[in-house]
Amino acid sequence: MTLRNTDERWGPVSQSLHWLVVALILVTGTLGLVMGDMRNGPSKIEIYALHKSLGLTILALAALRLAWRMHAGAPLPAPATPRWQGRFATFTHWLLYGLLFAVPLSGWTFNSAAGYPLQWFKLFNLPALVARDVELRQLARDLHEWLFWSLVVVALLHASAAVYHHLVLRDDTLGRMLPHAWRRRAVPPPLSQD
Ligand code: HEM
Ligand code: HEM
Repeated sequence: MTLRNTDERWGPVSQSLHWLVVALILVTGTLGLVMGDMRNGPSKIEIYALHKSLGLTILALAALRLAWRMHAGAPLPAPATPRWQGRFATFTHWLLYGLLFAVPLSGWTFNSAAGYPLQWFKLFNLPALVARDVELRQLARDLHEWLFWSLVVVALLHASAAVYHHLVLRDDTLGRMLPHAWRRRAVPPPLSQD
């Protein structure tokens, strides 16, 4: 079994990184949405720190994933996919990559402009990206929120397309992003009655 992606399917490295990042975004996004309303205290500080550490992990995994994708290539579109759909899917994937970098980087910029400290799981400190700046702080904060909601919209569109391929077109688009054991064989079209 090869670790690389082939013309037919995503290899185990791309698959693992894909689903790990999906899970981390769900947790980090949920923490981001609830932490602002928490009562001030040690738990709030812990949750903010966890949000930032998970966000930085997503940033590192996005870089790793992009490097792997450049090295290992990508499968061809599923057979019978119209050209415009293949192109749109590729465009959406690059947009998702852009957002996977932009969301954590805007969070890091906000954190730096606000003058807050930054650690990765209490293991090491990370530098500020910019100096303290009240205007930039507000801009980066708004940007972080809006980029997050853009990621949600594009990811929902992308996930709906995957489910549509699986349930309606009944092709292998979703199956080739899943481990072999979970994969459903492509269902042949019903035989003609005449
Ligand atoms: C992909 C990763 C990330 C996601 C999905 C994410 C998501 C969010 C969300 C949904 C919010 C709440 C926005 C609002 O309603 O105001 C938020 C707030 C925040 N995020 Fe992130 N974030 C990520 C990465 C980061 C990183 C890497 C940092 C810092 C290094 C960070 C720092 C913050 C801070 C400080 C806030 C609070 C902003 C405020 O005071 O209103 N985030 N994030
Ligand atoms: C935060 C959520 C998500 C992000 C950021 C994301 C991102 C990506 C990216 C960048 C790719 C391109 C492949 C790569 O380079 O690794 C991809 C492929 C794929 N994703 Fe997602 N994804 C998300 C959620 C989902 C969900 C929920 C599903 C399924 C319901 C899904 C199904 C797929 C499939 C089937 C492919 C392969 C498409 C093909 O072969 O053309 N993704 N995803």
